[in-house]
Amino acid sequence: MLSAVERKIEQFIAELDDKEVEALYAKLPQGKRLRAKLILKIAGEKLSAVKTAAIVEMIHAASLLHDDVIDDADTRRSKPSLNALYGNKTAIMLGDILYSKGFFELNNISPDVAKVISNAVTQLSLGELKDVSLSKMFNTDTSVYLDMIYQKTASLIEASAGAAALLAGKPKEPFMIYGRNLGLAFQMIDDLLDITADSATLGKPALHDFAEGKTTLPYIYLYDALGESDREKLKNMHAKVLSEEEQQWIMAQMQMHQIPMKCYAQARELIEEAVELMNRLGEDALSEIATEMIDREF
Ligand code: IPE
Ligand code: IPE
Ligand code: MG
Ligand code: MG
Ligand code: MG
Repeated sequence: MLSAVERKIEQFIAELDDKEVEALYAKLPQGKRLRAKLILKIAGEKLSAVKTAAIVEMIHAASLLHDDVIDDADTRRSKPSLNALYGNKTAIMLGDILYSKGFFELNNISPDVAKVISNAVTQLSLGELKDVSLSKMFNTDTSVYLDMIYQKTASLIEASAGAAALLAGKPKEPFMIYGRNLGLAFQMIDDLLDITADSATLGKPALHDFAEGKTTLPYIYLYDALGESDREKLKNMHAKVLSEEEQQWIMAQMQMHQIPMKCYAQARELIEEAVELMNRLGEDALSEIATEMIDREF
């Protein structure tokens, strides 16, 4: 069912009528297409749903092009990132082209869908900005972290679910709550995998967040669990390239204080809440994709 989405993305890219962009886009490997899957699950496979799924995946790809510039990441989807291959300028411009083509195509769906998705992209950008600002210090406030990941990641997943509900003629609010929970849990797991998975499995740099100054949920919980002198030790490692020994110390502390389990449990709670909400509405088919958001290796 995703092949219709792939064909639609190819068509949107071909309509740009630019050989350089076509060649660059061909360099981008496909992702997991979780947002597209979610939209088709909720709205079915009618043309408007396929188009919306294609638009959202283009917007998501644009956000990753910019994100890899922001995060100095040299791999993405198991290949060199576009910024690593062609430099930041090309990555930023291809991101702008994908964003604007996505917005243009949104106008052909419906004003309501266009509003929901475009508003989420504003939130995503505000969230990315907040992520950068926060990385200048050692943030230990969970609610600040949650607000930021809601904006940068959950907003687009929430909007995908909401837009799909609109397309299916269903009430958008419960689907947006469902999508919000999925999105928060999804980013929590992304932040956990940065620590527990290796870069080959992830297809993107591992143990990269803390070096970039990001005190994600596992680091906040670890900080909470540590005594005074170990807290100082951890703080001194923030936003630095760490030695093997320093990395191992962090990993050992994470394991000792059962941080991965704690983060996973929190993500699972959000997923269970989302699934229960959908079950109450008789939407049983939406539990598998919810679980896919957290039970994953990359
Ligand atoms: C990566 O999203 C960016 C985050 C919001 C964590 P995905 O993990 O969905 O990326 P792809 O599309 O599958 O590569
Ligand atoms: C990015 O979060 C979320 C976006 C909105 C693009 P991350 O920076 O953690 O995503 P990855 O780990 O690079 O995929
Ligand atoms: Mg990143
Ligand atoms: Mg980032
Ligand atoms: Mg990440």
